Amino acid sequence: MKSIAILTSGGDSPGMNAVIRSVVRTCIYNNIKIFGVKFGYDGLINGNIFEMNISSVADIIQKGGTILSSARSSCFLTEEGQKKALENIKKRNIEGLIVLGGDGSFKGANVISNYGIKTICIPCTIDNDMGYTDYTIGFLTSVNTVIDAISKLRDTSSSHGRANILEVMGRKCGDIALYSGVAGGAESIIIPEKDFDLEKICNKIISGRKRGKLHHIIVLTEGILSPYQLKKQIEEKTKIDTRVTVLGHIQRGGTPSSMDRIIASEMGNEAVKLLLLGKSNLALAYKNNEVEYVSIETAINCKKSFNEKLYEIIDELSI
Ligand code: F6P
Repeated sequence: MKSIAILTSGGDSPGMNAVIRSVVRTCIYNNIKIFGVKFGYDGLINGNIFEMNISSVADIIQKGGTILSSARSSCFLTEEGQKKALENIKKRNIEGLIVLGGDGSFKGANVISNYGIKTICIPCTIDNDMGYTDYTIGFLTSVNTVIDAISKLRDTSSSHGRANILEVMGRKCGDIALYSGVAGGAESIIIPEKDFDLEKICNKIISGRKRGKLHHIIVLTEGILSPYQLKKQIEEKTKIDTRVTVLGHIQRGGTPSSMDRIIASEMGNEAVKLLLLGKSNLALAYKNNEVEYVSIETAINCKKSFNEKLYEIIDELSI
């Protein structure tokens, strides 16, 4: 293998830059040409591809976002788009491709792999919604961001004797709410994996208030119900003033945590080494503190399991 390309696709996540740095440096160390593709699959289609060097990745390990830019490409879903992408890969004699992203990006990588290009995927999404790996890069940083928000909300919640709803991201996965709820000491969490129980939340607010508790933090995963509708329902039932914060894309930015940087550095290095061994159609996973791999199809089709034990802890610790 003489040349490899790397792209970042889908929603960005903190730690993508640390992966890019690791891939580029490992390639240069092993005398492999490394190309960066801008704006994900759209860049492959438009030929937005450039050769990277050692200084292309200087001073980026600590930066959120992606220096390669990202996109959700609708054009790559068409056969015409895929053929154009393939032409651009072949024109530059690119033999291997490393794709950073989540579920949708892996599906794109599978298409490229089926056209015969050696392809490796690295899981990067804040959602942690991929069942085949313990962690996706960016998730732990995002959880830290949410914990920070919970701590700040708790201050003002206590000052005013209010309930505060914090809506977080996660798409169809409740992990951001669950992990940050536990680590931030939230009183209630609402996640897609569990039925929403308004009665239980309101009773908890009222019983907390009766024994002098002044704050109540509810972490709500996006897409379940409107936080403003929830606020109205809580106020009607408890008569307690309630406020809404939608954290939004703040969760996608910021300097990556230590674990995200470490996993990113390990995975970037491993992806290049696997390509050099002639391996293809693999998705890297982080399992039991080690980097492992499965086929891309296995990764895409693996059902995400839910950490029931962690969910139960919330009820016991937030009495
Ligand atoms: O998949 C990552 C994610 O941040 C989700 O949590 C969220 O639902 C979505 O992307 C937001 O996408 P966009 O950046 O397109 O608004």
